Amino acid sequence: MSRILVVDDERNVLTSFQHLLGKKGHEVLTAKSGEQALSLLGSNSPDLILMDIRMAGLSGLETFRQAKAIVPKVPVIMMTAYGTTDTAIEAMKLGAFEYTLKPFDIPKLTALIERALAMGQLMRTPVTYGAADADARAQRIIGKSSKMIEVYKLIGQVAPSNVTVLIRGESGTGKELVARAIYHHSQRAERPFIAVNCAAIPETLLESELFGYEKGAFTGAVARKPGKFEQASGGTILLDEVGDMSPSTQAKVLRVLQEGTCERLGGHETIRVDVRLLAATNQDLEALIRDRRFREDLYYRLHVVTITVPSLRERKEDIPLLAEYFLKRYSRELQKSGMRLSPEALERLSAYEWPGNVRELENCIKQAMVLGQGDVLMPEHLRLGQSSAVQLRSAPESLNAVRELARQHLEQAPGSAHQHLIEQVEAQLILEALMQTQGNLAQAAKLLGITRPTLREKISKYRIQRRVHLNQREG
Ligand SMILES: Nc1ncnc2c1ncn2[C@@H]1O[C@H](COP(=O)(O)OP(=O)(O)OP(=O)(O)O)[C@@H](O)[C@H]1O
Ligand SMILES: [Mg+2]
Repeated sequence: MSRILVVDDERNVLTSFQHLLGKKGHEVLTAKSGEQALSLLGSNSPDLILMDIRMAGLSGLETFRQAKAIVPKVPVIMMTAYGTTDTAIEAMKLGAFEYTLKPFDIPKLTALIERALAMGQLMRTPVTYGAADADARAQRIIGKSSKMIEVYKLIGQVAPSNVTVLIRGESGTGKELVARAIYHHSQRAERPFIAVNCAAIPETLLESELFGYEKGAFTGAVARKPGKFEQASGGTILLDEVGDMSPSTQAKVLRVLQEGTCERLGGHETIRVDVRLLAATNQDLEALIRDRRFREDLYYRLHVVTITVPSLRERKEDIPLLAEYFLKRYSRELQKSGMRLSPEALERLSAYEWPGNVRELENCIKQAMVLGQGDVLMPEHLRLGQSSAVQLRSAPESLNAVRELARQHLEQAPGSAHQHLIEQVEAQLILEALMQTQGNLAQAAKLLGITRPTLREKISKYRIQRRVHLNQREG
C-alpha cells in the first residue's frame, strides 16, 4: 500500500482518484490547491504526488517547485489538458516523473502510477552493506568475503565523486544493487536515480527513451517529450545491459560523456545534460569490440573505474549468510517465520555451483520455504541444478523485458498494441524453435505445441527466412 497525494482544484477529479486508487489499496490524500498541498507536505510524506497544472492560486508548476524542496525524492506526475503540455514539459525538465493528459486513459494512468511508485521506492530505499543494519527498510548487500569487502571499498571510493563507473559481473551477482549503493552514497543521493535496461527496450525506441523527441519526429510523436538524460538532470543514470545498445545510441551516449550535451530526436536544440553515468553489463565487452558491435572509444569512457562483482561460486563462504538473510526476508512475505536450514541442506547449498548466482539462491530459498513443511528445511526441499535453475536465473529479467515491451507498445502503438506485441513475440518464439531444431518443422512444431500446417502458416506470415533455418530434409 502506498500513500498518494492528489492535488487538483476540481472536486470530482479528487473523488475519482480516491475511488480509483482506493480500490487498488492505496491511501489517498487530497488537496484542492497548491497551498493546501504544501502545508500537507509539511507533516505527511506521500510516496507519489499527482498534480494538476492549472489551478487557481499557486500554479501546478510553482507548487511542484516548492514541493521538490520539501520532499525531493517523491515522484510527481503532472496532469494537464490536451494542448497545454508546455508547462508539463517544463516540469519534467525540472525533474517531474511524467505528465499525463486529461481526459485520463485509466489503464495507461494506472500503469504510469505503478511505475512512478516503483521508481520512488528505488530512490528512497537505501542500500547498505557491511555490518548489521539499524534501518529495517534498507536493502542490504550481503557478504563478508574478502572479494565483497573489496567491492564495498571500491563503492566507498567512487561514490562521492562524479566518475563514470562500469559494473561488471555474471547475471544475478548484484550489479544493480551495487549501482544503487553508489547512488545512495553519492552527493547526488537527493537527486533522481533512473535505471534504463537497454536490453528490455526495443532498439528503435531506446534512443527516443534516452534522448527524448520533438513533436513530429516520427509517427506517434504527438508532443515533445524530454528523454531520460534530461529528466535525470543533476542525478544519476544507470545504463543496464549497456552492451545491447545500437551503434547510433552508443555514439550519442559517447557525446553525452565527452561534451555533456545531446539533442532530442528530430530537434536541433543542443541540450546540456548534467548526469552521472553508471553502466552495467554481464557481457564480454572486449569481444563485442572485436566484433565491431561496441565502440572502443565509448568503452574507454565507461571503464574509467570498473567494479567487478564476484560470482557466488567465487565467494562460497557467503552462502550461509545469504541463505539466512533470504530466510528472514521471506518469512514475513510468506508468513512462515522461524524456518531454518538443516545442516545437510546448508551443505548442499555450499557444494552447488550457482550459475544464476545470488538471484538463483534467492529463488531457491524462496521456493524451499513454499515447499517445506515444518520448521526445518531439508535437502529434498531444495531444487538445485535442474532446468529450473536456468529458468529462475532469467525469469525476473525477461519478465521485466516483457513488461517494458508492453509499456512501449501501449505508448507507441495505441489502438494496435495487442496485435503488434503478440506478433513480435510470436515471431521470436518461432524463430527460436526453428533454430533449436535446425529448421526441422516436425520437431519445431512439437516443441511449440502447434501443428505443422499452423507452423508453416506462421513462417510465411512472418516471412521467416527458411533458407537459413530449414535443413533440406523437411519441406
Ligand atoms: N550481495 C547481495 N545481497 C543481497 N541480495 C543480493 C545480493 N546480490 C544480489 N542480490 C539479490 O539478487 C537479485 C539479483 O540482483 P541484481 O538484479 O542486482 O543482479 P544483476 O547482477 O543486475 O543481474 P543481471 O545481470 O541478471 O541483471 C536481486 O533480488 C538482489 O536483491
Ligand atoms: Mg541487472
